[in-house]
Amino acid sequence: QTWTRNERYRSYDSYSVDYLEALKKSVSRSPWRARFHIEAETGLLNDPNGFSYYNGKWHLFYQWFPFGAVHGLKSWVHLTSEDLVHFEKDDVLLLPDTTFDNAGAYSGSALPIDGKLFLMYTGNHRTKDWMRIPYQLGAFLNEKNELNKLEKPIIAPDFSEVTEHFRDPQIFRHDGCIYAIIGGQDLHENGIIKLYKNENKDLRSWQKVDNLKFTSDKMGYMIECPNLVFIDEKPVLIFCPQGLDKTISAYDNIYPNMYIAAEHFDADSAELVNPSRLRNLDDGFDCYATQAFNAPDGRALAISWLGLPDTTYATDSYGYQGALSLVKELSLKNGKLYQYPVETLKNLRQDEQNLNLSKVDLKENTYELEIDFEAQESTELALMSGALLIKFDKESQKVTVSRGSEKRQVEVNIHQVNIFVDESIFEIFINKGEKVLSGRVFPDKDLKTISASRPTQVKLWNLGK
Ligand code: FRU
Repeated sequence: QTWTRNERYRSYDSYSVDYLEALKKSVSRSPWRARFHIEAETGLLNDPNGFSYYNGKWHLFYQWFPFGAVHGLKSWVHLTSEDLVHFEKDDVLLLPDTTFDNAGAYSGSALPIDGKLFLMYTGNHRTKDWMRIPYQLGAFLNEKNELNKLEKPIIAPDFSEVTEHFRDPQIFRHDGCIYAIIGGQDLHENGIIKLYKNENKDLRSWQKVDNLKFTSDKMGYMIECPNLVFIDEKPVLIFCPQGLDKTISAYDNIYPNMYIAAEHFDADSAELVNPSRLRNLDDGFDCYATQAFNAPDGRALAISWLGLPDTTYATDSYGYQGALSLVKELSLKNGKLYQYPVETLKNLRQDEQNLNLSKVDLKENTYELEIDFEAQESTELALMSGALLIKFDKESQKVTVSRGSEKRQVEVNIHQVNIFVDESIFEIFINKGEKVLSGRVFPDKDLKTISASRPTQVKLWNLGK
């Protein structure tokens, strides 16, 4: 089925109740619905948005097109959580219901300000001739869970500096001031990030500082979803450059999610001082638009879209696409970023088994596997009856993950591995997050066997909710 522009961008209320009911039925027939990851009820989920802590709860939103597994008229769906593991969806939607966001409430972030949660996002405006004007917009969520948009854009695009690609504001505090970074494309088709400052505490008025300086290389033709977080006071920039030349930094996916770590953030000169080289945030198959923020408890937390733009998935035929990753805590060791699921995820562990594994048939593809490689030789695991192969080679220090004919490989000195499987989702963490490989794989319904090429000592937990 191909979707016309008109079908993708027509108003939500032009879809009938019957249409949505039929779509829900179709989704419920999927053999791959996740148990402990976030998916859309129907339609397409993409970027995580507005990840924050406010009013005693964690808040998280995601980009959503409700009516099919395609990118169309987007809104934000709202979730809250007490523990970063169980998320509840409520009725609040940030809808594309003003002229400034008439073709989509695109990605953005959130920051508690003066007792309210301020949402800063991109209004994807389209003129009658379908020309795009990206406005940066604001909205407040209050303690009663009421959402109110600011009437006017807070930053309009300056077309003498950017093209129509200017979006995904991340708002953050630094040294007592509020800043925002926005991804985009300059007039020479370079990927750029612009830094803004909110000087006089009026969220309607922002001052442009400069383009963020963090590399001398060309960052592709466009940058999406930039995030600046501080870990042990060091700035880490996480972003998605599209069209990045692979000689600048190698990657295997259509578009990479990358990061650099730096010594210092000089806000006045918009500079990340002494930046590292660019590195892949995730070496797996499906990870994009990661959103990270500094939580008030001191942790830097991140969550990713386990999906990629311009890609189709096996769930599409059931009328839905996309999932979010587990919530990951970020840390820095020797200048390298580590990402590992939050501690509370352990609460999902059930039925611990210590196995000298050669083959085991499971009832569900929902589990965590842990292998201690200090005591274990090189081995190869076949998960989901071989739909996913993971080869650990200690001698050559390589981990290779194969999904059918596709492969991803990382070089790392292997000490410990934790693998989380949730029906069609896998997240592999090596050495507590020194390397992460995430992705989707869609095994036939009855493929639930785990086997190993040689006896392998594993801990296995069923993960339930
Ligand atoms: C990234 C992205 C963002 C945009 C959003 C629209 O996946 O393209 O740049 O704001 O998705 O859904």
